[in-house]
Amino acid sequence: VGHIADVQELRKSKPTTIPERFVRDKTERPTLAPAPLSPNAIPIVDFSKLTKGNNDDEVHGEILKLATACEKWGFFQVINHEIELSLLESTENMAEQFFMLPLEEKQKYPMAPGTVQGYGQAFVFSEDQKLDWCNMFALGVEPQHIRNPKLWPTKPAKFSETIDVYSREVRKLCNNLLKYIAISLGLRQNVFAEMFGVAVQAIRMNYYPPCSRPDLVLGLSPHSDGSALTVLQQGKGNSIGLQILKDNSWVPVKPIPNALVINIGDTIEVLTNGKYKSVEHRAVTHKEKDRLSIVTFYAPSYEMELGPMQELMDENNPCKYRRYNHGEYSKHYVTNKLQGKKTLEFAK
Ligand code: SIN
Ligand code: FE2
Repeated sequence: VGHIADVQELRKSKPTTIPERFVRDKTERPTLAPAPLSPNAIPIVDFSKLTKGNNDDEVHGEILKLATACEKWGFFQVINHEIELSLLESTENMAEQFFMLPLEEKQKYPMAPGTVQGYGQAFVFSEDQKLDWCNMFALGVEPQHIRNPKLWPTKPAKFSETIDVYSREVRKLCNNLLKYIAISLGLRQNVFAEMFGVAVQAIRMNYYPPCSRPDLVLGLSPHSDGSALTVLQQGKGNSIGLQILKDNSWVPVKPIPNALVINIGDTIEVLTNGKYKSVEHRAVTHKEKDRLSIVTFYAPSYEMELGPMQELMDENNPCKYRRYNHGEYSKHYVTNKLQGKKTLEFAK
């Protein structure tokens, strides 16, 4: 794959032109014209109304919102999610401190090719592939056997403890959301938990330095997630960077302070036979502002055999995906470049 420049170091050297490997083909470049839909259009789900709504109508109304979000958008922002603000902040601080370490320190935890664990750029498989304007640091978190302890950094101090506590809280949220997602489909609340076994959880921190030509590069290539659910925390800088593809145009996700962005991954799309969709998204960069995002992927155990659920198929909704082993799907996902919803073809 040739030498992959570290984007933060590249930025420091203030190049007058963007290196060719980052310059996107014309069709891929972000249009900086305002998107036709308001950034506020992305649905907001109030978690407290799901868990302790004042009456049945309030609970039901929120479940309906959740259903619409999953069906029409594949994305929503969750507020009142019960994860302590101080924990969100300390996790963000840890991530930020990590990225600000000297390159030699970060390179003690190199991303091995064909994996998404460690520091560097993932999903790069050929010389002619365009690179993302982003540095990543990714870790397998749960269950224990997917962890590579050598990749858990000793600096900043408290990094590992913080990520552990954060991951436990995010896991709880994912479990709860999956229950309400099941209910919103008219299914038993534990269906997903039963199909997932001991769920796999991974975390990835993305750091996007400013870019002198945001019109030429992408922070992160368009893709859908391979997970069941993804939980995304946007950094406090509040600069807009995440965009989702809706009705053929890229809609920016405007950060709501302290909210988390949730999106449906390919796994839920398959299990619901396409009723709930994993939606293509990407990140763009900014001329002056950097941006940090912290992303948790929540997915079934690698041993599980998955396919569309019987309950969601009938004459009008014939089976759209094959059954497959989730471990094989995950392997397929991490050994291919990010390219829209292409990885989902594995399930066809
Ligand atoms: C992602 O899709 O993994 C991250 C996008 C973002 O940085 O907002
Ligand atoms: Fe993603």
